[in-house]
Amino acid sequence: MALEYSTPKVLVLRSNTIGAVHRILQALVLLYLIWYVYINKKAYQETDSILSSVTTKVKGITFMNTSDLGKIWDVADYVIPPQEPNSFFVLTNLIVTQNQTQTTCAEIPSVDSICSSDKDCKHGIRSSRSKGWQTGKCVDFNRTVKTCQILAWCPLERDDKPPNPPLLTGTENLTVLVKNNIQFPKFNFIKRNIDPHINSSYLNQCVFNRSTDPECPIFRLKDIIEEAEEDFQTMAIHGGVMAFQIRWDCDLDWADRWCVPQYEFRRMDKHRANPVTTGYNFRYAKYHNKFHMNRTLIKGYGIRFDIIVFGQAGKFDFVPTLVNLGSGLGLFGLATSIFGLIITPCLTKWPHYRERKFSYLEQDSEYEPISGSTTGAQ
Ligand SMILES: *[C@@H]1O[C@H](CO)[C@@H](O)[C@H](O)[C@H]1NC(C)=O
Ligand SMILES: *[C@@H]1O[C@H](CO)[C@@H](O)[C@H](O)[C@H]1NC(C)=O
Ligand SMILES: *[C@@H]1O[C@H](CO)[C@@H](O)[C@H](O)[C@H]1NC(C)=O
Ligand SMILES: *[C@@H]1O[C@H](CO)[C@@H](O)[C@H](O)[C@H]1NC(C)=O
Ligand SMILES: *[C@@H]1O[C@H](CO)[C@@H](O)[C@H](O)[C@H]1NC(C)=O
Ligand SMILES: *[C@@H]1O[C@H](CO)[C@@H](O)[C@H](O)[C@H]1NC(C)=O
Repeated sequence: MALEYSTPKVLVLRSNTIGAVHRILQALVLLYLIWYVYINKKAYQETDSILSSVTTKVKGITFMNTSDLGKIWDVADYVIPPQEPNSFFVLTNLIVTQNQTQTTCAEIPSVDSICSSDKDCKHGIRSSRSKGWQTGKCVDFNRTVKTCQILAWCPLERDDKPPNPPLLTGTENLTVLVKNNIQFPKFNFIKRNIDPHINSSYLNQCVFNRSTDPECPIFRLKDIIEEAEEDFQTMAIHGGVMAFQIRWDCDLDWADRWCVPQYEFRRMDKHRANPVTTGYNFRYAKYHNKFHMNRTLIKGYGIRFDIIVFGQAGKFDFVPTLVNLGSGLGLFGLATSIFGLIITPCLTKWPHYRERKFSYLEQDSEYEPISGSTTGAQ
């Protein structure tokens, strides 16, 4: 009968090279486990993601360069809308078109609107680029150019270029108080970006500065823009969008006071390769009487700050520790198996090894190792 059962046999190879390579491999895996999994990735911790709420309050006054809209603009004038979730907008520049009423006037010259006689203009036509209804008349825009007449809010807005320097001055010195309350519900952990030891007299006069006042939650707008490596006055002309990032990465195995927010600022609306249409603007109107018969149109340019809160917390827990220990041991075994796979083909070329490794229990002629033509059973 040729039934057999094979059992592994331990063979001790007295070889410094093979022994050393094997140990080094094990040491590397162990090092990876300890350093990467346990120290760098903190695999012994349970993690939780953040819940957050943000409120902001902008303070300061700005000045208007032209007198007919009022010289002093305060928070109620330049923060639009008064409140927004996780965001605030500060007006920095504007194009003002005063005394608009609904009448007829000559359209701004463009390829579509320039005409030489009434038959170039069609009654009732309105294109999406035009600001009103064509009346069908061709009228003088100025002494040299004729354009189609339209029924619209006249006089029409001339919005080719925002004023430079910006019409509102002093916006760079405005400050914003950012209040951010956060929770890590799994650990029942609650904190805010205003530290418990900060008192109100400090809060009344501080301004955030990375080196001198890193805990102050009041930020000067110019500092925010400059930390993002932008120039405030240049950005103020066309407006823009800034990301105001608050990152909470907390290791709750340590004391609560080490769980502090990190602030980072970056500009979001700019593309280095293509500067076309960077900036941020929108239009709004101030109506002068309740029948909405005349208004002041404002094309406002400004900076929107989007406050983005993210982060996570970790705390020691048995379950992830054991799970990661298990997978670590698996990796340890895998390293040994891979080492075996690499080393075995080399060893089997060695007759002495083959002789010792594969042998039959009974040195019977019937159980001789198969050699060429002889068959096992007779
Ligand atoms: C707007 O209208 C008022 C009153 O009708 C007038 O006093 C003022 O000069 C006008 N402003 C402009 C810029 O046309
Ligand atoms: C707005 O219209 C009303 C009546 O239509 C007029 O009395 C008032 O002067 C106008 N205001 C401006 C600023 O044009
Ligand atoms: C008329 O308007 C056109 C287009 O804006 C301009 O190029 C031209 O210089 C103006 N002519 C006069 C006399 O103002
Ligand atoms: C902003 O504040 C600084 C220092 O307080 C001052 O020197 C500067 O003139 C202010 N800028 C404007 C535009 O008011
Ligand atoms: C408030 O805090 C500041 C520093 O954080 C400290 O110098 C000052 O004495 C405190 N004032 C009061 C009234 O506690
Ligand atoms: C922060 O404070 C230091 C020292 O007072 C000052 O040199 C630096 O300009 C300040 N940074 C900002 C952004 O204001």
